[in-house]
Amino acid sequence: MVSTDEVVLEARDVVKNYGGTRALKGVNFEIRSGTVTTLFGENGAGKSTLMKILSGVEQPTSGEILLGGEPVTFSSTTEAAERGISIIHQELSLAPNLTVRDNIFMGREIMRRFGGVDFAEETRQTRALLDDMNLAIDPDTFVSDLRVGQQQVVEIARALSVNSRILIMDEPTSALAAAEVETLFGIIRDLLARGVAIVYISHHLEEALEITDHAVVLRDGTMTARGERADIDLAWIVKNMVGENFDLGSPPEGYEFGEPVLSVTDLTVLDPDNPERAVVNGLDLHVRAGEIVCIYGLMGAGRTELLEAVAGRGRVESGEIDLEGESILRDSISERIEKGLGLVPEDRQRDGLVQTFSVGRNLTLASLDKSMTGLAISRKKEKERAQELISAVTVKTSGPDLNIGGLSGGNQQKVVIGKIVATDPRLMLLDEPSRGIDVGAKAEVFRLLSERARRGVGVVYTTSEVGECLSIAHRIIVMSRGQITAEFGPDATKDMIMAASGEA
Ligand SMILES: Nc1ncnc2c1ncn2[C@@H]1O[C@H](COP(=O)(O)OP(=O)(O)OP(=O)(O)O)[C@@H](O)[C@H]1O
Ligand SMILES: [Mg+2]
Repeated sequence: MVSTDEVVLEARDVVKNYGGTRALKGVNFEIRSGTVTTLFGENGAGKSTLMKILSGVEQPTSGEILLGGEPVTFSSTTEAAERGISIIHQELSLAPNLTVRDNIFMGREIMRRFGGVDFAEETRQTRALLDDMNLAIDPDTFVSDLRVGQQQVVEIARALSVNSRILIMDEPTSALAAAEVETLFGIIRDLLARGVAIVYISHHLEEALEITDHAVVLRDGTMTARGERADIDLAWIVKNMVGENFDLGSPPEGYEFGEPVLSVTDLTVLDPDNPERAVVNGLDLHVRAGEIVCIYGLMGAGRTELLEAVAGRGRVESGEIDLEGESILRDSISERIEKGLGLVPEDRQRDGLVQTFSVGRNLTLASLDKSMTGLAISRKKEKERAQELISAVTVKTSGPDLNIGGLSGGNQQKVVIGKIVATDPRLMLLDEPSRGIDVGAKAEVFRLLSERARRGVGVVYTTSEVGECLSIAHRIIVMSRGQITAEFGPDATKDMIMAASGEA
């Protein structure tokens, strides 16, 4: 018989300072066996910091960690792992140039009796783990060849492979499609039945509520509320997170759409891994100046490939792409940017940000020409522009000079969007712009996009949360298997959209 609802890991009065930033201001937090404790909070509230302390990534400035009632200190993740604690990080932490198998067994290789790594056994175990997660990929695939959603599944599989007693999941589903989330939830329920204690962090509030036993809300480094599943709902979470109720906005109105900015006609893009298969299949899409279009679909529907082809990254087999009436099909990525196209990519860690640069540098990077006086870059001008952009996209930072790695996940995403806004695009393409962003920041991002649309910018964004299509979009397009399967106005219902995606 496994014991449940016993406190297994506890933070007492934990304070964490990063230089002048007090990320945690004396937090008490408990994790109980056989239950899910969900941690809610806005970007920068301190959720990841608290989890890093509990899993040995960071040390507290003051306060105590108790494991099974005994005070402990973890000086590394390895030490925490030895005591049965593992963490799935918010930002993907796989080594891209290693295979899936090598990532899963990195640092704890299975050895053969007479020496040497037992690759066959590692491959077998990897395949079993991936099967459990319904992920049909070869263990020998390089991580760099996987899509973000697939990488996230591998990340989860790696954490599961160590059989921890305490499993911390920091935004495990941000890149997953609904069906994969269900698979993960199935696995979580199995783990709970075995008495594993789980901490779950997500900005998908509805989804998180589905799996929550205990809820804790952090705000600005302080715990503002805790409650049991039976006593809480969405409104309770939002109220405690931000102190008020609000929605994600509605389609901007009171103006006419302008000329077409984007015309995609009969576009076909082939799968680079399997040229037999079309990831975008004879697709038509027309977007006018001032119009906001949301593309909804499951992972593998072809949303990312469509946006990447328009931005000049995909391999177009046939069809036509026009920007403001002019073909851009043969233009390079930078020529397309020059002509007014801005892409906010799906994977901000890899494509969107330079991790060694400051917040300010990342913001102004794509539009350095606007920081010039004469032929030279004016540091003063660059700094002023960085400051303007920081306020325009409401980045929570101590200033433009802070290293980008010092920002919370959600704030990093705002920097990626700010960087594109800075180039004054005619058409903005955003692939999952709300991934890992809290409700407050989501509303801000959508407000920002509405504002651009009002100024005549065409906006296309993808999402895997139906509610986020039913916010500012004038038009909602459902994609499935490389094709558009349905199109709706803003008064569609969640059920209609999900049914069209093959999800309901
Ligand atoms: N390495 C670091 N150096 C400096 N400041 C940091 C560092 N890591 C986090 N911070 C700061 O600590 C605060 C809490 O950040 P944390 O990442 O814990 O937030 P979070 O709740 O996980 O947010 P998100 O939902 O965006 O992931 C933020 O103000 C952040 O800027
Ligand atoms: Mg975080």
